Amino acid sequence: MEGNTATQQCGPIGIFDSGLGGLTILDGIRHRMPQYDFIYLGDNARAPYGTRSFDVVYQFTLQAVEKLFSMGCPLIILACNTASAKALRSIQQKYLPQAFPNRRVLGVIRPTAEVVGTLTKSNHIGILATEGTVRSESYKLEIQKLYPATTIVGQACPMWVPLVENGEYDKPGADYFIKDSIDKLLTADSQIDTIILGCTHYPLLLPKIKQYTPKGITLIPQGKYIAESLQEYLQRHQEMEHNITKGGTCKYFTTESSEKFSESASVFLNEPIEAIHITL
Ligand code: DGL
Repeated sequence: MEGNTATQQCGPIGIFDSGLGGLTILDGIRHRMPQYDFIYLGDNARAPYGTRSFDVVYQFTLQAVEKLFSMGCPLIILACNTASAKALRSIQQKYLPQAFPNRRVLGVIRPTAEVVGTLTKSNHIGILATEGTVRSESYKLEIQKLYPATTIVGQACPMWVPLVENGEYDKPGADYFIKDSIDKLLTADSQIDTIILGCTHYPLLLPKIKQYTPKGITLIPQGKYIAESLQEYLQRHQEMEHNITKGGTCKYFTTESSEKFSESASVFLNEPIEAIHITL
């Protein structure tokens, strides 16, 4: 525990996801801000989170946050929409003020919501996400707070995360599930002109998602926007920016087999990485 008067913690930015998907966010952030140190933590052993209850997602996310804090991170990004939808508010409002008042945990829903209203022309926005994120209605609430005239329709894609986690994302069998979810979304609202890929795993399915999305619809993968938003945050919060160490390194931790994670992550990031196994 650290009190209000505790010395500031200096260390890397922690990036957390239920599995491999957060690498798409990490990639966007490192591309924009290569100078910082990062720790990536994937809870692959317990992924997917998308079908789990609020309580379970909260408990798992809190364990990951505590682990990243114990590794010295002053700032953590929940690079997981499901964790952002189900755990972020409680962590920010109940846990941090008591346990770590000088550290911060940020999510990915708000920055995406801020951007999407500037991109739609029809004001009809689609959300493709996990069942947990869609049911939480977090996107609808955040977007309509900022852009009240919008219509938001969500479609859960329960098969998409398993396709990625199991390395099936570019195989022919994935096509059926990808087309099916996109068709359902556009049948529910044919005026949608902008679709948020509201799960960090989905950019890895992007070639196939593009194939089944009618031309003229804008797809929004999140990495770029989360990176922009984080950069602005650090510019506004210089006290936090000074606490982030700047060696340009990135360490990877997974709750699953380190070999399995390293192999998949090296393919996704297009560079050799070596992950370390940990338990939460
Ligand atoms: N990648 C996470 C998200 O953005 C969750 C995937 C999952 O574990 O179900 O929602």
